[in-house]
Amino acid sequence: MSDIAVIGLGAMGTALAGAFLDKGHSVTVWNRSPARTKALAAKGAMVAASVEEAIGSSPLIVACLLVYDTVHQVLDPARQALSGRTLVNLTNGTPEQARAMSVWAAQCGADYIDGGIMAVPPMIGGRHALILYSGSGQAFDSHSGRLDALGTSKYLGEDAGLAPLYDISLLAGMYGLFTGVLQALALTGKAGIPAGEFMPLLTSWLQAMQGGLPKWAQQLDSGDHTSNVVSNLGMQADAYVNLVDASRAAGVSTELILPMQGLMRRGVTAGRADADLSSLVALLQSSEQSI
Ligand SMILES: NC(=O)c1ccc[n+]([C@@H]2O[C@H](COP(=O)([O-])OP(=O)(O)OC[C@H]3O[C@@H](n4cnc5c(N)ncnc54)[C@H](OP(=O)(O)O)[C@@H]3O)[C@@H](O)[C@H]2O)c1
Repeated sequence: MSDIAVIGLGAMGTALAGAFLDKGHSVTVWNRSPARTKALAAKGAMVAASVEEAIGSSPLIVACLLVYDTVHQVLDPARQALSGRTLVNLTNGTPEQARAMSVWAAQCGADYIDGGIMAVPPMIGGRHALILYSGSGQAFDSHSGRLDALGTSKYLGEDAGLAPLYDISLLAGMYGLFTGVLQALALTGKAGIPAGEFMPLLTSWLQAMQGGLPKWAQQLDSGDHTSNVVSNLGMQADAYVNLVDASRAAGVSTELILPMQGLMRRGVTAGRADADLSSLVALLQSSEQSI
């Protein structure tokens, strides 16, 4: 028997198995392409000949495969072996997929924990690797000591969909940041300004702007978006026109920035010109679309 079985040894699964080994846990691994087991075997991992053998080797099964369909393709034929085990699925997915997999795991007689990895493989095992978990609290309490080998664990609650909800919401913030950075670099680059010259200004500007986000949380939780507003939506909507016009004039695509302009205009039309930008969250929560 091993402490943990890791199923799926892509870039992330390999890092997960390596971190468990580094912290002194015994690990059994399985991967569709056996070549990927070699480096881990050299570090002390046991290599299972089949998924059933991997599941049978350990009370704690960590799956990290491409998508949820892959998890089903791999685990469905071996479902009987899951009875009495805890399945931790760290594959990226949606809250709905996680809840459905929780039901499926219960039908197999397994405890289920869903997870979201907020890290890239080289970060795994370090404290800056945030791993979100949700699902069976009892199973999480039993196994958190082992799971802590992967980074900083955060348990969010019994609803298995919570980890992917937090995961994709954090990714939404990241992609919003990347979207703006791409536009900024396209504009300045087209003007011949080296990225290396502009980037320090951009990173310090973004750091300064993130300082205002806790106020958004207060506004959203209190419902008051109009007290002590220093940069109201009406002003920002007018200034945003210049970003769109300048991009067009420079021959830079506006495909990333027009949706935000549409939302700002919708906010102004809805009578929120004096409110803070945080008031746009409520508009996003309605199914109406500006574009
Ligand atoms: N890499 C990251 O930066 C990162 C960060 C956070 C979360 N994640 C998430 O972690 C999960 C794994 O990512 P990764 O970077 O490890 O991906 P990857 O390097 O592409 O590895 C994919 C894994 O899925 C397996 N697989 C794919 N299709 C399969 C099939 N039909 N049957 C059996 N196995 C199959 C692959 O097996 P083979 O080796 O046989 O192809 C491999 O083990 C994803 O859900 C990803 O979103 C990744």
